[in-house]
Amino acid sequence: MKRRITLAFTTLFTLVLLVVVYEQFKGRVKTWYSENYIVRATKFPAGPQPDQVCLTWSGDPKTTQAVQWRTSTAVTDGAVQWRAAADSGDEIRETVAIQAVIADRLLENDPEIHRFTAHLEGLAPGTAYAYRAGSKIADTWSEWAEFTTAPESAASWSFMYLGDPQLGLDYWGELLHKAFAARPDAAFYAVAGDLINSGSYRDEWDNYFAGAAGIFDRRPTVPVLGNHDYGKDNRPQMYLDLFALPTNGPNQIPPECAYSFRYANALFIVLDSNLPPEDQAGWLEEQLAAEDRATWKFALYHHPAYSSSPNRDNPEVRELWGALFDKYHLDAALQGHDHAYLRTYPMKDGKRVATASDGTYYIVSVSGTKYYKQEPHDYAEVQFADTSTYQTIDISTNPDRLTYRAHDFDGNIKDEFVIEK
Ligand SMILES: [Fe+2]
Repeated sequence: MKRRITLAFTTLFTLVLLVVVYEQFKGRVKTWYSENYIVRATKFPAGPQPDQVCLTWSGDPKTTQAVQWRTSTAVTDGAVQWRAAADSGDEIRETVAIQAVIADRLLENDPEIHRFTAHLEGLAPGTAYAYRAGSKIADTWSEWAEFTTAPESAASWSFMYLGDPQLGLDYWGELLHKAFAARPDAAFYAVAGDLINSGSYRDEWDNYFAGAAGIFDRRPTVPVLGNHDYGKDNRPQMYLDLFALPTNGPNQIPPECAYSFRYANALFIVLDSNLPPEDQAGWLEEQLAAEDRATWKFALYHHPAYSSSPNRDNPEVRELWGALFDKYHLDAALQGHDHAYLRTYPMKDGKRVATASDGTYYIVSVSGTKYYKQEPHDYAEVQFADTSTYQTIDISTNPDRLTYRAHDFDGNIKDEFVIEK
């Protein structure tokens, strides 16, 4: 009898194992096949006119600005012309761009483009600059647009945080434009990963930049790597080719996957939760310790420490990074991945604490149209599903105050909290 039970149990276990292995294998074969054989087309093929103009920071936001754009491969030179916006008589300066080829051989109508990146340096803090990007040889230029460098200090300033765009990028673009119209003063747009669905499909990146047209060319974006931004061969190659980012991340992981920067009185630490948290923990602690005098500290990464969906726990993120957030008192962790909205109570050491001065807020949100179900959690102060949101974070001094708000598509405030120091 005992032997029969053992045999039945072993058979059942083997069958379950086989099904799991088969499902994994089938998923990988499907991904491999679609990445290598399924021909696609982009709705936005490149031309001689620069488009997808996008601002990021790879250096100090006070004194540098990276500008990126694309053209067809017929254009073989790139430059940014710029001057202080306040003085139209100011001499126009010029920064030559680096040119790269981005190839997606399965895009039948536009398999190769040129991507240009110009690093503007020696800028003055808190100053508006006018610029245009393009080709001197072809004499094709983007429209003049303006960006503003980070201030030395500011009585008040704001930024935006958005969760996963990923799917429904038309709708996401509308949401983004609503956010921009409501709060043109927001200095930059942080996006917490899964910018698109398939990291090595350039047609999806084209949809992403089409949604952000008219915004990312005048407000820098701060991208974060999600699992879907990793593409072919499990590398985020296209993401890295598209965004010039700081190279001050951990030595144990590839450059630009994680990075940090200061903006006014705040520290921002971007982590790559696709890669081992332990490879980034030492660097994370160095950043937090070195910038301990920053009034506000934020971490941005994709896989949440406190998940909103069942079976999506990330204990290493919570335990390894969370312990450092506790030690150096992070104000808020801005996350994605779970396709719903969840904001915790202030948390410390895995437990709810009385006030924000004792702990950290952990937030999950979604800005595209892929929604997952939620289950109730004792750590959640606010949670809701099936709603895309954008978040405004307003920071002011005297006294030091942070006002956080989550807005839905129509601008309704869905969540709000204030931290005072
Ligand atoms: Fe994700």
